[in-house]
Amino acid sequence: MTPSDVKATLSFSDGSPAMDLPVYKGSVGPDVIDIRKLYAQTGKFTYDPGFLSTASCQSAITYIDGDKGELLYRGYPIEQLATNCDYLETCYLLLNGELPNATQKTEFTGLVTKHTMVNEQMQFFLRGFRRDAHPMAVMTGLVGGLSAFYHDSTDITNPEHREISAIRLIAKMPTLVAMAYKYGIGQPYIYPKNDLSYAANFTRMMFATPCEDYTPNDVVVRALDRIFILHADHEQNASTSTVRLCGSSGTNPFAAIAAGVACLWGPAHGGANEAALNMLEDIQRSGGIEKIGEFIKQVKDKNSGIKLMGFGHRVYKNYDPRAKLMRETCHEVLNALGLQNDPLFKLAMALEKIALEDDYFVSRKLYPNVDFYSGIVQRAIGIPVSLFTAIFALARTVGWIAQLNEMIGDPEYKIGRPRQLFNGSVARDVKPIAQR
Ligand code: SDX
Repeated sequence: MTPSDVKATLSFSDGSPAMDLPVYKGSVGPDVIDIRKLYAQTGKFTYDPGFLSTASCQSAITYIDGDKGELLYRGYPIEQLATNCDYLETCYLLLNGELPNATQKTEFTGLVTKHTMVNEQMQFFLRGFRRDAHPMAVMTGLVGGLSAFYHDSTDITNPEHREISAIRLIAKMPTLVAMAYKYGIGQPYIYPKNDLSYAANFTRMMFATPCEDYTPNDVVVRALDRIFILHADHEQNASTSTVRLCGSSGTNPFAAIAAGVACLWGPAHGGANEAALNMLEDIQRSGGIEKIGEFIKQVKDKNSGIKLMGFGHRVYKNYDPRAKLMRETCHEVLNALGLQNDPLFKLAMALEKIALEDDYFVSRKLYPNVDFYSGIVQRAIGIPVSLFTAIFALARTVGWIAQLNEMIGDPEYKIGRPRQLFNGSVARDVKPIAQR
């Protein structure tokens, strides 16, 4: 972080002493005003619920320009990564800062492949759940439970422990998600197969059965690999901030990632892809494209509490570049699978067109985000709606780990402990119950 030659001066109308605050520049994006000494010097806190104007950390991993609709992983535009790389190359990039060369890619892929199995005891965690448990409930439990098997690598301050935990989590998430799926449909678990690529292995664990050979469909594998890349990281979003705050206590990486899984589940965040597809199915059931106008009216009515799921974003005030790539993947997959007339895809594109011409959305800069089309692709390749967010968690695990490791690797990091504006009761005495 580079000191700016601009200073911020904070003055108070009641004549309290003014204070100069340093301003710092990053390599790109908004400057920051360093308020770390504010409370010590003024006895005042800043107030920013939802952190709309707060940089919680320095990071070199992912940069988003919300106005331009630009997303860079370690400086590489998401469009180029989604077209020229696969997910494990992207994992290597996010974790190490550079794309792997051929040797590094082979070694990294080999390392991940060798850690795809989970301890046989893990299946007994699943048995504790009802078969109809939501996969995100299962995943929150399983990921947290992983820490019970790896006491040899839970010291987050040890770089080797951080590295092997990263490999284990990236490698085992597909196995756990597939197990959660198989458990829900009452089918036997399918073990990983080391001669398959990461996405092909996941496809086989999801859709194969012990009764017959299974060859993953290349179109499905490529679509999943792209879905993983698009969801891999996204700077300081809610679940990543959760992982950072959780990890700042020094807890083990598995527990911190489990906290991220739990946060991602929410419909305002990773749960939006499930909510967006359910929304499209509801509109389809109530009449389809002809009913869009009525639905948009409900969304614009604040009292309805209805949002256009898959639209809007805290940072993007332009089209989410991932949504564009996801829409492309929609076309490819639906055409390849002979589903080009998929009514939900047509409905989604009609809804997008109408919303982007409606001043309510345009004035609020509400554009489709990554979740608007991802559900249609996943549904087309046979993934149940309830598993969408678990797949988002699978893909985001590398981003969470990279961000966690970046924080722990920063000698300046402290345990996160925000303050508050207190507006409750001031001190008062307890009265005997007869007087209450
Ligand atoms: C993800 O942070 C990340 O980077 C997240 C993510 C990632 O990769 O990690 O990108 C993944 O979570 C994508 C977002 C998925 N969520 C949804 O699609 C759910 C629907 N979207 C909204 O809930 C909302 O847009 C948020 C939560 C995404 C952003 O909310 P903000 O930034 O707090 O904005 P806001 O709620 O203050 O909205 C501003 C205005 C409000 O209207 P007014 O009060 O100004 O009249 O826009 C309206 C909101 O009511 N609005 C919407 C809307 N989103 C915002 N109105 C209708 N439909 C919507 N989807």
